[in-house]
Amino acid sequence: MAVTSSRLRFDIRNAMAAAVGDDNGVSDAMIAQAAPTIQDAHARIVNERAAGEQRWMNLPDDDALADSIAQYAEAARERFRDFVLIGIGGSSLGAIATIQALGHPYRNLLPDAERGGPRFFVLDNPDPEKVRATLDIVDLPNALVNIVTKSGQTAETMANFLVARQALEDVVGQEGARRQIVATTDPQFGLLRELATREGYDTFPVPPGVDGRQTVLSAVGLLPAAMCGLDIHGLLAGARAMRERCAGDDVWTNPAYLLAAVSVLADTRLGKCILVTMPYADALFGVSDWFRQLWAESLGKRLSVSGEAVFAGQTPVKALGAIDQHSQIQLYVEGPNDKLISLIAVDRYRAHVQITQTPAGFPDLDYLQGAELGQLLDRERAATAWALTQAQRPNYTIGAPTIDAGIVGELFYLYQLQTVMAGALYGVNPFGQPGVEAGKNATYALMGRHGYEDLAKKLAAPIEAAGRYVLEPPGQG
Ligand code: PA5
Repeated sequence: MAVTSSRLRFDIRNAMAAAVGDDNGVSDAMIAQAAPTIQDAHARIVNERAAGEQRWMNLPDDDALADSIAQYAEAARERFRDFVLIGIGGSSLGAIATIQALGHPYRNLLPDAERGGPRFFVLDNPDPEKVRATLDIVDLPNALVNIVTKSGQTAETMANFLVARQALEDVVGQEGARRQIVATTDPQFGLLRELATREGYDTFPVPPGVDGRQTVLSAVGLLPAAMCGLDIHGLLAGARAMRERCAGDDVWTNPAYLLAAVSVLADTRLGKCILVTMPYADALFGVSDWFRQLWAESLGKRLSVSGEAVFAGQTPVKALGAIDQHSQIQLYVEGPNDKLISLIAVDRYRAHVQITQTPAGFPDLDYLQGAELGQLLDRERAATAWALTQAQRPNYTIGAPTIDAGIVGELFYLYQLQTVMAGALYGVNPFGQPGVEAGKNATYALMGRHGYEDLAKKLAAPIEAAGRYVLEPPGQG
């Protein structure tokens, strides 16, 4: 098991009252008040883990699974030209984030020999235009289809899978299609498990007792990453390093707890009901998208753990520096002061691009002479942090020395623990997603799934005076 230590930096100075004022910044006193809750929650989390709960925390230890995935992927990378991931939410966002962070930005356009694995496609939304276009482009006789669903029945995923499976069968026949499907699902339960057993698909497990949004470091995220030739053992080592760093209960030295405290206090005490995650690296935009789901689905809860209606949660927003400086930052600096902004800095980008020449006779461009794009991007980040702070908008910065598998693994673990601790500070259960399940059930009912007839009747009930609220195009009302 590779040993590595955490390399992320955390700078919360601009989120503190000393920088942005008492009305907008968290104070030492607020953090001190939260500390006992954090210590209690820490002890509970440790005990729960020892009792076989909080299983997401153990995923980074499963090097045996990573070995078997790496072995499977090594052979499959030789055999297949395309890899199609079918899944949604927690069953796709982690893989997308990993591959975006660690893969070449245009990896699908690279020649086969330079790509490090098959082209990567995702079918998440059941949008017929995207699905059709994807299946038209994919080299079906040479494609491996990975269906990923923990429940084994999510409508979007099953629908996309059935379409893809048919497309495969049309070109390679039923028997051939079976050899081109790998299912990642619950080891025992669910429709997909049943189908996979009957059809003899290759399978990998979604770990029981872990919500979909916490499965990125299981086969859910690791198989697609390994298929793309990425360092999955490095991801796990990075996650372990962050777990090690977050082993104590002191809020001032445990970065996951510190960020949880700052975020929740900013929301509940200072009205910062929006949390923006803004990496200054295109490669990390997928990580902010993955985090968006984690924070929203885990903390957006109606009921507290004691059953009171609390309507908890902080709305997560993803933004990208420097692009959103020309889109969102005007709002963040001058609009409602209701946001906490988390910037992600990268010290050393993986490419060095220098401006070697500026045109003669344009002195206003001279400042770019010899400049390096990574340096420009990082200074844009520093400038944004300064502008936000000047406007008394709380913000903090996570600093990464570079982007590699270890750093991405650290971010995954950090954000998951931060979310679990934020749940404790809000007093809600960060696990489960009853609001998502309600929508899933309504979809089954609307699609006529057996067993959902009563719900279908409720959904079909007319809304009073609905006509007043619906504007049809002229001439069609
Ligand atoms: O985090 C979760 O549990 C959800 O977002 C699920 O990942 C998502 O709804 C997909 O569910 P499933 O993996 O069961 O298809």
